Amino acid sequence: MKHILLGVSGGIAAYKAAELVRLLRKQGCEVQVVMTESAMQFISPLTFQALSGHPVHTELLNADAENAMSHINLARWADVLLIAPATANTLAKCSHGLADDLLSTLYLAAQCPVYVAPAMNQAMWHKTVTQANIATLKTHGVIIIDPEAGEQACGESGIGRMAEPASICAQLLAEPVTQYLHGVRVLISAGSTREPLDPVRYITNRSSGKMGYALAKAAVKAGATVTLVSGPVNLAAPDSVELLRVETAAEMYAAVMANTQNCDIYIGAAAVADYSPTMQPQKIKKHASQSTIILQKTKDILASVANLDLPPFTLGFAAETHDLEAYAQKKLQEKNLDMIAANWVGREQGGFDSEQNALQVFWATGQKTLAMIDKTQLAEQLMLLCAERFNEKNTI
Ligand code: PMT
Repeated sequence: MKHILLGVSGGIAAYKAAELVRLLRKQGCEVQVVMTESAMQFISPLTFQALSGHPVHTELLNADAENAMSHINLARWADVLLIAPATANTLAKCSHGLADDLLSTLYLAAQCPVYVAPAMNQAMWHKTVTQANIATLKTHGVIIIDPEAGEQACGESGIGRMAEPASICAQLLAEPVTQYLHGVRVLISAGSTREPLDPVRYITNRSSGKMGYALAKAAVKAGATVTLVSGPVNLAAPDSVELLRVETAAEMYAAVMANTQNCDIYIGAAAVADYSPTMQPQKIKKHASQSTIILQKTKDILASVANLDLPPFTLGFAAETHDLEAYAQKKLQEKNLDMIAANWVGREQGGFDSEQNALQVFWATGQKTLAMIDKTQLAEQLMLLCAERFNEKNTI
């Protein structure tokens, strides 16, 4: 049975911690609760005592404990320390090593994995000092369960609400991911490219970068060293990734080619422009009733990587509105790829800029369908499939 030590600090989300205790116990965990003084202003220790079946710990020095040191005993007992909700103050104390109450002292004494689920007003969450504290805690190996966006108890709206108890519970009890790409270097392209027509206009496409960024996160989670070459997107840089920002297809080509020597796997998830105009130095004026743009073919980045003398394992994408399998197989062979992930685009669900997608993956000796699912999970399934083929190729 897993021993979960739950630290509750003083925020309105403390009431959600009660549901968390119930869910964890339902999953067969034994839970003991530690509350800060301000947490007790929001919810009574009696609630947690009733739900956990244990007395609640609130004092740093406990005269009733055998050695008066309940923090050491509790830290030894815990398989996991979870702080939920973690206020800005508690995060700051933990990141700086302050130990002026039972919970902050437990954080220092704990030798088990530590999870924190922050909860606070959106402005407090975005404050540079809070983000610096979060970054420090990550370097200490603390796992942050990100707060969610939405309406807040203070009446404002934004990121800062504690993650839902069911989601915290799922993250806490998830099987540890095996580092199946440990020591492998993965280079990924993501997003669209912008091909300028003049100083104010460009040609682009609907790629949001979500698929490529999800793949980068999945590769990091699997233990890979990841370089992400990204076109213009509206996404935050993934943690622990070397991010190279580019704009045009030519810039993406240069950035990818400059990094192929340091990579074992290349994944071309970007929607690269196939054609590019010659940029006019001045804004194109409106005169005639029709206008023609001459486009030049761009260099094919994926094919260039796959046809290097010593190519990495190459996984390409194919975005098709019709004849999916035929076009995907053609690209697999003509570009000399190891694998290709084909997706229907232009349908209501999936493809460009959606949260979900489905893929039909082909390689020389097989194929697999990955059903419509969230891009985060789809990326994890695809990364595993890619690693299997990569390992197979390297052992032949
Ligand atoms: O970014 P999202 O909104 O999450 O959407 C994800 C996606 C639909 C963009 C992604 O899953 C996808 O399908 N990416 C490839 C889109 C594409 O350009 O497909 P294509 O069939 O035109 O190109 C085939 C392959 O050649 C791709 O791997 C592409 O990166 C590569 N290519 C194309 C042209 C070029 N000049 N250089 C290339 O490397």
